[in-house]
Amino acid sequence: MIIGNWKMNTLRADALALANAVMEMEYLDSTRVGICPPALWIDPITRIVKDSSILVGAQDCLGDRAGAHTGCINAAMVCDAGCSMVILGHSERRARFGETSEKLLNTVAAVLETGMFPLVCVGETKKQRESGKAFDVVAGQLRPLLTSGLDLGGIVIAYEPVWAIGTGLSASRKDIEEMHATVREVINRNDTLVLYGGSVSPESADDVFNAEGVSGALVGGASLNVSKFAAIVAAWERK
Ligand code: 13P
Repeated sequence: MIIGNWKMNTLRADALALANAVMEMEYLDSTRVGICPPALWIDPITRIVKDSSILVGAQDCLGDRAGAHTGCINAAMVCDAGCSMVILGHSERRARFGETSEKLLNTVAAVLETGMFPLVCVGETKKQRESGKAFDVVAGQLRPLLTSGLDLGGIVIAYEPVWAIGTGLSASRKDIEEMHATVREVINRNDTLVLYGGSVSPESADDVFNAEGVSGALVGGASLNVSKFAAIVAAWERK
């Protein structure tokens, strides 16, 4: 599974052009390709990709029922707009908006209830890694999900070390393998996809995808350029 997280990028015309370009990409039926545009462009983009297998996702939402939550959108709205997934707990939201795995549980539940799948991000900061706490931090971010009683059958996890995001330098193969093994041990399910995210590029993709336990990528910056995004998909397919 290769998912592009466009973050807070693109004006309308760029977003529609990029979605049209992604539509032209060639990839195998067995590869799941998706894009998560800014919420405003979800509706026109689901129309663009409707006859393709491209998945469209939101970058966040609330789990609350409709009501007095100014500025927010909920899982039901995102689903109604044609999304099949929602990124939850991205480190940029954890850092800026105080999101925690505990606070996200009702959103994970709401997303699952709609039939979409949550793409839950976990990852440690540089300071946490340097102080030897990386594995505890990531396990701690996963644990609330496991004790929640939710059926995690459809959930996708993305390991995104905060220190690799947007730096141009992805984590080493060894770091990726070690953390993916930890994630898989904590989750304790064979069917869970565990993606890697953090400066995945056409240059780093082969190394990332050859790491044991990696089921694909959550791509930030490189997903804004269709040639780079297509090259990452191609790297996955020659793995
Ligand atoms: P970059 O690929 O730009 O490092 O972003 C990774 C990311 O945060 C995807 O969610």
